[in-house]
Amino acid sequence: MGEHFLHIGSVRNAEAFKRHLEEQNIAIPFDEVLLSGGESPLAQPLSFNGVKIGNRFAIHPMEGWDGTADGSPTELTIRRWRNFGRSGAKLIWGGEAVAVLHEGRANPNQLLINEHTSDDLARLREGLIDEHRQAAGSTDGLLIGLQLTHSGRYSRPNVKAIPEPRVLYHHPLLDKRLGLNADYPLLSDGDIREIIESFHRAARIAREIGFDFVDVKHCHGYLGHEFLSAHTREGDYGGSFANRTRFLREIVEGIRSTAPGLEIGVRLSAFDMVPFRPDPERSSPGKPGPGVSESFEELLPYRWGFGVNAANPVEPDLTEAVRFLSLLRELGIRLVNVSAGSPYYNPHVQRPTLFPPSDGYLPPEDPLVGVARQMDAARVLKRQFPDLLIVGTAYTYLQEFLPNVAQAAVREGWADSVGLGRMVLAYPELPLHVLEGRKLDRKRLCRTFSDCTTAPRNGLPSGCYPLDAHYKKSQMAITLSEIKNRYRKESAKA
Ligand SMILES: Cc1cc2nc3c(=O)[nH]c(=O)nc-3n(C[C@H](O)[C@H](O)[C@H](O)COP(=O)(O)O)c2cc1C
Repeated sequence: MGEHFLHIGSVRNAEAFKRHLEEQNIAIPFDEVLLSGGESPLAQPLSFNGVKIGNRFAIHPMEGWDGTADGSPTELTIRRWRNFGRSGAKLIWGGEAVAVLHEGRANPNQLLINEHTSDDLARLREGLIDEHRQAAGSTDGLLIGLQLTHSGRYSRPNVKAIPEPRVLYHHPLLDKRLGLNADYPLLSDGDIREIIESFHRAARIAREIGFDFVDVKHCHGYLGHEFLSAHTREGDYGGSFANRTRFLREIVEGIRSTAPGLEIGVRLSAFDMVPFRPDPERSSPGKPGPGVSESFEELLPYRWGFGVNAANPVEPDLTEAVRFLSLLRELGIRLVNVSAGSPYYNPHVQRPTLFPPSDGYLPPEDPLVGVARQMDAARVLKRQFPDLLIVGTAYTYLQEFLPNVAQAAVREGWADSVGLGRMVLAYPELPLHVLEGRKLDRKRLCRTFSDCTTAPRNGLPSGCYPLDAHYKKSQMAITLSEIKNRYRKESAKA
């Protein structure tokens, strides 16, 4: 699987890794010497609007597919959030995607924010803070947000296996994947206004229960992100840039009046690509080949993406992302988390990996190229918006060299804060260990086996099954292993 790409775990030292980047022409900044304590660029505080963030590590939102049917956290959720706190990172970007309405949940176990769940969500935050205090010694400079979402096209609120898409426009490639006909109903402008109101309500609750900010999610193919590519939609919320960003503007306007003082952030898929799939020529049942893009020759200029080159939609184009960040600045939003693509239709863009999940494809490129692509987008945007606080994404794949790249990225101003996703499921204490100058525990590094994605794709909670004993030794791990064996047998038969 992916054998022809460098296995980072086998690289002898920092010098060899740096050489590999140079030989492959992969533009990723790299510091061979790591600094620690007060000297480390990663230990420097940040501040904006009178708010202080104590260091340069952020924890990305990471869903667990482990909430109750009514949208409250379970023991697994509480444990994950405590681990986020234990990391020592001073910016908690959202915890995880929390739906503002039942019908906008991405799965029947997604957290939901409303009057019934608010006490439990408050306790989730408090658990994180307790754990942070114990691990880091103080909660000074800790900023905690809540990611608010509506899953739009990827809503599955009631039954795990049954999609109930809420779409803004007909997408020539994604509609086919979801089996939507041309007459499948679109969300009306009236439906959209109701969704906007539920964001206002959610933000008010988030403020009441102590969150410092809410992230109005605009990434990964979910509703906020779909608005940005709604070029072909008619009415108030589609077509022009002003219309495609009306959803954001109306949400922000309402939050300013219903939750005054609450900070707002936006996690953005700054660029996208056409959907990918396993190359049919190199795949057999149960054994996906490398990813290739869907054919788009008939669809040019490509009008169903945000941040893609319309003439060649496998290339990013940051023109509209720049416009979008200008708008955020006008709206007084300083917190921006730069992500890309979608886990549903181009996972190699969104979360570079050597080993794909059960519904994925083999890497079509060295996953380091995917890391570099996301890092470069953050760099370009940071350069143009020095006053915005930019969080970078896709660092987990760097494994033992994550600290070297993180330090260089912050030192050279590629990003203000380095966000961690999958790594924090495997090795929550990594940020603290880096800041304290401790040697990393290599056995705990995420090697991107994708079980954290394969599990929920097959109806199980997410977590680090290979490395976190809590999952590794559970009944859930036995079930996951049976599922993976079934895939293997199918592929052997084929
Ligand atoms: C299991 C899992 C759950 C995730 N949940 C969320 C989520 O709730 N919200 C979100 O914006 N991104 C989510 N992501 C994406 C991550 O936040 C992150 O962007 C991605 O994993 C790439 O960063 P990494 O290389 O550090 O893992 C999730 C990713 C994984 C693997």
